[in-house]
This record gives sequence, C-alpha cells and structure tokens, in this order.
Amino acid sequence: MEHEFQDGKEEVIQAWYMDDSEEDQRLPHHREPKEFIPLDKLSELGVVSWRLNADDWEKDENLKKIREARGYSYVDICDVCPEKLPNYEAKLKNFFEEHLHTDEEIRYCLEGSGYFDVRDQDEQWIRIAVKKGGMIVLPAGMYHRFTLDSDNYIKAMRLFVGEPVWTPYNRPHDHLPARKEYFSKIINRGGNQTVEAR
Ligand code: LAC
Ligand code: NI
Repeated sequence: MEHEFQDGKEEVIQAWYMDDSEEDQRLPHHREPKEFIPLDKLSELGVVSWRLNADDWEKDENLKKIREARGYSYVDICDVCPEKLPNYEAKLKNFFEEHLHTDEEIRYCLEGSGYFDVRDQDEQWIRIAVKKGGMIVLPAGMYHRFTLDSDNYIKAMRLFVGEPVWTPYNRPHDHLPARKEYFSKIINRGGNQTVEAR
C-alpha cells in the first residue's frame, strides 16, 4: 500500500538535515552543503507518505483506498494563515514546541506548504517539506514539531482513526506507552534495553 503512488513524490515531499541556527523557524534551515534525505530513510523512522491529486481530493480513489486500508474514518480541513487562524502567532509557537501524540499525526497538504520536523535515530532534526499533494503520517510516539514556511500558508486535511485526539505531549514524555513502543520498535530496533537513555 505504502508504495503504490510513488511517482513524482519528491516534487511535493522533500527531507533534509537541519542546521542548528536560531534564525526564523520559517526559513529552510539547510545545512551547508545541503544534506537531503531519501524518502526511504523516512520510512525507516516510521514516516509514511504519498503523493495524491489535491485538486480532486473529494473524488480521489487513491485517498479513499488509503483511508479504508488504514481506518482513517475522520477528516477535517484546516486553514493555517494569519488571516484565518485565531491566535495565529501563539498557535504557531505551540506547533513548534517539540511534542508527540499517542496516535498517528496524519496530514494531507491540499494547498500551500509547511515543514514537519522530526528526529532521526541519533536525535538529529530532519525537516520534511510538504507541498500541495503531499500526505504524511508521523507515527504515534514520534517527537516532532510543525511550522509554516515563509509563504505563511497551508490548507491541510487532518485524518484520524475514530474520534480525534489532538493532545500534544511536549518533550519529555518518555514514559508514555506510545513513546516506549516507538522507541523500542524504531529507535532501539530489537535491542533489549527498554528504557530510553536520556
Ligand atoms: C500538530 C502538529 C502541529 O500536532 O504537529 O497538529
Ligand atoms: Ni503534532
């Protein structure tokens, strides 16, 4: 399922290692020289992605298939821009606090663009740039943060299995079962250490 609609995916989803400058979070924050990351590496971290036809989302059979296969019964659509989101600046600041959820975070970019930042197995920040047509799933228990880029606009579909729970648990929340599971499955792969060393 994950590998069915890969064509041209890199045009709408790109990932790279971030520099550690404190400059505006909306800038790309490439390293010098740039270090792009193949989308395969993201799937090793549990991040699933697709390219879909965002102009036809209401009738899109591929979206329908993904929703059925993964049980995404809930959808809504959010416009994130200064004009449409109440308390825009405060919310954007919250989105950029490193956090996790006890369920998947599923976002489908219908218009505009944004950055989802995640950590690799060595705690390095990876910036995932998602544009119109890109859909990504961040697994439960994965630390991440979100920001708009300098274009200041995204229209995103949010999906969920059943009744949505959007609660962010700001880092550190290493004792949550979702985090322990992500840690042992993805970061500590088969190792027998069950406690996160921090
Ligand atoms: C969320 C994004 C901001 O939790 O990570 O909605
Ligand atoms: Ni989140």
